[in-house]
Amino acid sequence: MARPIPYPNSVMKRCSVTKLWGGRFAGGVDPLAWQYNASISFDFRLAKVDIQGSKAWAKGLRKAGVIRADELDLILDGLEKISYEIEASEFYIQPADEDVHTAIERRLTELVGAAGGKLHTGRSRNDQVATDLALWMIEALEVIEKNIKEVQLSLIKRSEKDFGIIINGYTHLQQSQPILLSHWWLSHFWPLMRDRQRLAELKKRASVLPLGSGAMAGTPYPIDRKFLAAELGLDSISPNSIDAVANRDTVAEFLFTASLLAVHLSKLSEALILFSTAEFGFIHLSDAYTTGSSLMPQKKNPDTLELTRGKTGTIIGRLTGLLAALKGLPSSYDKDLQEDKMPLFETYDSLCLMLPVMAGLLESLEVDAGRIHSALNPAILATDLADYLVAKGIPFREAHSLVGQVIRKSEGLHVPLHQLPLKDFLAVNPAFTADVFDVFDFEKSISKRNLPGGTAPAAVQEQIALAKHLAGL
Ligand code: ARG
Repeated sequence: MARPIPYPNSVMKRCSVTKLWGGRFAGGVDPLAWQYNASISFDFRLAKVDIQGSKAWAKGLRKAGVIRADELDLILDGLEKISYEIEASEFYIQPADEDVHTAIERRLTELVGAAGGKLHTGRSRNDQVATDLALWMIEALEVIEKNIKEVQLSLIKRSEKDFGIIINGYTHLQQSQPILLSHWWLSHFWPLMRDRQRLAELKKRASVLPLGSGAMAGTPYPIDRKFLAAELGLDSISPNSIDAVANRDTVAEFLFTASLLAVHLSKLSEALILFSTAEFGFIHLSDAYTTGSSLMPQKKNPDTLELTRGKTGTIIGRLTGLLAALKGLPSSYDKDLQEDKMPLFETYDSLCLMLPVMAGLLESLEVDAGRIHSALNPAILATDLADYLVAKGIPFREAHSLVGQVIRKSEGLHVPLHQLPLKDFLAVNPAFTADVFDVFDFEKSISKRNLPGGTAPAAVQEQIALAKHLAGL
């Protein structure tokens, strides 16, 4: 039977090394079981926030009279030293380091001796890891928000640069009505605005302190939890210790928000892939964001957009994976919860690439105004033709049907709608007069849609101003 690739020998030896929780264990742990259990390979990136949490906890212990002032100083100095070691890549993970929490505590004790062993008094890795996640998440949300803002800025720049270009609008991917290209670019701005709002709300919900919940029942020491929250810049303290150590709602919410954000980027990617095909030719992607084919010399592939579309599937998968991991957990902390980190970190890492790549791609692409213009089909003014009849007093439903008959005629005669002789219009209804040909004017069509949110140039100008204002650009 195939076995998983083992850790290098040096790491395998960890099973014989003393563990922080080793007291009640007589026998060694199976090397593979140890490898299976350990999370250090992926949770070490929590080190910075773990140290932050530990500093606050040490101060809390001092305030509660659990440790002496000199011990607090030793602990704070030691933690500071560990920060420098990590920063300088001089922190060496040891075989017995199961996770980031045990690694830092082990090093602290090496540096400051017995005082280091007092840091974990009244605390559990269960409330510790939940606290780390809250702190990490708050920083991560800010980074993602900034990256979204960059994409929003690129969309605004596009809508300003391409202002005035009229393009076929599509529903069901069929030509529908003329719109300003700027209006279309902005249609991808607003979903990102909502994503940012969701992230901002999530930040508030993440700003709750689990520390002080212990393993699950709370802590017997008189720790001032509000003080801890204030030390860590969190808004409030968790109201229930059992819930506090089990709660991964913000991770799930993060993965959902990320999924929806990715869906928005993926939809835009799909449209851009389509528009960049030889058949459409509406846009030309910059060489910087495309790749060639190893076989076909003529190819310029929109790989970055395809990857965004593809990664979106993976991100959605991580959300459903976490929800499935959470749904059967009986009470408080279960080790299943360790499975929250990989999807969280991987999704964050994906977004940190997807967003700036999209921003760069948007700014560097070229719009082919000529191709867009020549693709405009007068048939997309059929709604305007119906409105023309409405202006002559014909009820819209009837006007819709009459225009339908005119279109049937134009298709039957193989004559474009706007070139159909007046007599053919008249044969359908006497309300048509010579001014019917004035309807076939794309600019006039869009200018009429001048309500807020519409595609008229004035309305789109207002929209750009609003977008800039709300996005803080
Ligand atoms: N590495 C663990 C995690 O990420 C930390 C908490 C471990 N708690 C425990 N009781 N074993 O969830």
